[in-house]
Amino acid sequence: MQNRTVYLAPGGGFDNVSIGDGRAVPAPGPGEISVRLRASSLNFHDYGVVKGATAPNETRIPMSDGAGEVTAVGEGVTEFAEGDHVVSTFFPDWLDGEPEQEGFVRVPGDGIDGYAREQVTRPATAFTRAPLGYSHAEAATLTTAGLTAWRTLMDDGALKAGETVLIQGTGGVSIFALQFARMAGARVIATSSSDEKLERLRAMGAEHLINYRDDSEWGKTVRRLTGGRGVDHVVEVGGPDTLAQSMVAARVGGHIAVIGVLTGVKGDFQVRQALSRQLRLQAVLVGSRRQQMEMVSAVEANDVRPVIDRHFPLEEIVDAFRHQESGAHFGKICLDI
Ligand SMILES: NC(=O)c1ccc[n+]([C@@H]2O[C@H](COP(=O)([O-])OP(=O)(O)OC[C@H]3O[C@@H](n4cnc5c(N)ncnc54)[C@H](OP(=O)(O)O)[C@@H]3O)[C@@H](O)[C@H]2O)c1
Repeated sequence: MQNRTVYLAPGGGFDNVSIGDGRAVPAPGPGEISVRLRASSLNFHDYGVVKGATAPNETRIPMSDGAGEVTAVGEGVTEFAEGDHVVSTFFPDWLDGEPEQEGFVRVPGDGIDGYAREQVTRPATAFTRAPLGYSHAEAATLTTAGLTAWRTLMDDGALKAGETVLIQGTGGVSIFALQFARMAGARVIATSSSDEKLERLRAMGAEHLINYRDDSEWGKTVRRLTGGRGVDHVVEVGGPDTLAQSMVAARVGGHIAVIGVLTGVKGDFQVRQALSRQLRLQAVLVGSRRQQMEMVSAVEANDVRPVIDRHFPLEEIVDAFRHQESGAHFGKICLDI
């Protein structure tokens, strides 16, 4: 098979996923590189696309995350050489500074073709180097989940040692947020639906653990655990059904990173509470290439290793999404290509 590629037919849905020959990859033009992709990783966003909730109306190669090795470099490319290990960026055109684009129109695996394939030629700026010593699968986890957690805490949150971070659940973003918070010397309070997963979070350095299924008023519990003050940062991945409790959990003037839609996209917003507690709600869409480069250096320097729950071969991409859908995973699910 030539350039094995996964295709998602218009409208999406697991029954609309197929695998076949891919287009021949052109030699890199000026400023471009060719990459032999070796791994990808699943995100809730990819799940939404493949399952059909947010699928494009044209055939699409799914998956936003891609890591592999450079096989050829075009004229003028000085940053990479053949054989270098690289990882894709979520926004191929957002290199630095403030975000300028709305939505996902230029995001691989959504608005444009993604990385569920063997080979690709793209502008060199659509990739950064991968951390030294990382496997391709480990590197692939950084594009979406890693960078979202990094940007949230380090840039938007300007996290300081000694502050307290609340994470929700044990998916990709939340586990990275726990690791980055601990790396920066912060305290972590964690929630999960599973006592067994909570014990794993404890082993990773979470100080207080709450089962959100047993404790529907976990925001109050967080306040109590922080002596009534509340946390400095909330990594809000739940969405409408968790935001109200997140606002209870945050300190006056606290930072809530509005990241996830695990419980949907619409709901009540407690304006009075946000005002009276002077909360800083910052909506987040992943991050820039510069932020990714900073994260890569930081994970290398601190030996932060992604938590990979399970690997699936590319051909079993639908099984991988079914595993994600089950909610049984802890951390990242990866595809080996
Ligand atoms: N805005 C952005 O830039 C951005 C980037 C990445 C992800 N996201 C969003 O962030 C969310 C998480 O993404 P992900 O890729 O990390 O997902 P994931 O790996 O699939 O994580 C799902 C986990 O979330 C937890 N969860 C589910 N419902 C919950 C609830 N009501 N309260 C607390 N935790 C709950 C569960 O953990 P337990 O089993 O431990 O309960 C579940 O295993 C998604 O909505 C995704 O779209 C946004």
